[in-house]
Amino acid sequence: QGEELRQLVASRLRAIPDFPEPGVVFKDFTPLLRDPAASRAVVADVVRRRAGAVDVVVGIEARGFILGSVMAHALGVGFVPVRKAGKLPGETHRVSYSLEYGEAVIEMHQDALQPGDRVLVVDDVLATGGTAAACCQLVEACGATVAGVEVVLELAFLHGRDHLPGYDVVSLLVDE
Ligand code: PRP
Repeated sequence: QGEELRQLVASRLRAIPDFPEPGVVFKDFTPLLRDPAASRAVVADVVRRRAGAVDVVVGIEARGFILGSVMAHALGVGFVPVRKAGKLPGETHRVSYSLEYGEAVIEMHQDALQPGDRVLVVDDVLATGGTAAACCQLVEACGATVAGVEVVLELAFLHGRDHLPGYDVVSLLVDE
């Protein structure tokens, strides 16, 4: 069943060469979102793994919002957005990190999580791992616990997992 899901998802990702810059092959997952059976299967897989073990889903801007909010809904828990700098109106924790292409700062509302909350971090792609690792730092800055990290696609050749030691990182598909 796992292999069937992987094949379904792989068939709904499309590679776009030279985006956002020459030499980068962008994995576009809009075809996956457009297919209700495929996106439902992705969400069901996460629910099967995480139901009862998480209190909150944290989604990373921007594609992590799309996936994370439906996963939160399916898990029956709340959703917290992690946003790029300057977008959240309340008091925030912020972390800066280096990206595959450039520098970035992400933020989360300080009061979004409570100490002891078990948090599932959701994004579409794990590339260098900088974004997910920074997000885990934000979760822990609130005293909450990262229960796991879920991504649709892991670009293993960028070794993102090396930035996430000790975390339960699950990727549906792996590009070696
Ligand atoms: C992409 C992707 C992840 C991040 C992964 O987002 O959606 O959030 O990069 O990269 P990393 O593992 O090297 O940190 P992007 O920065 O393109 O933002 P967007 O979703 O707002 O377009």
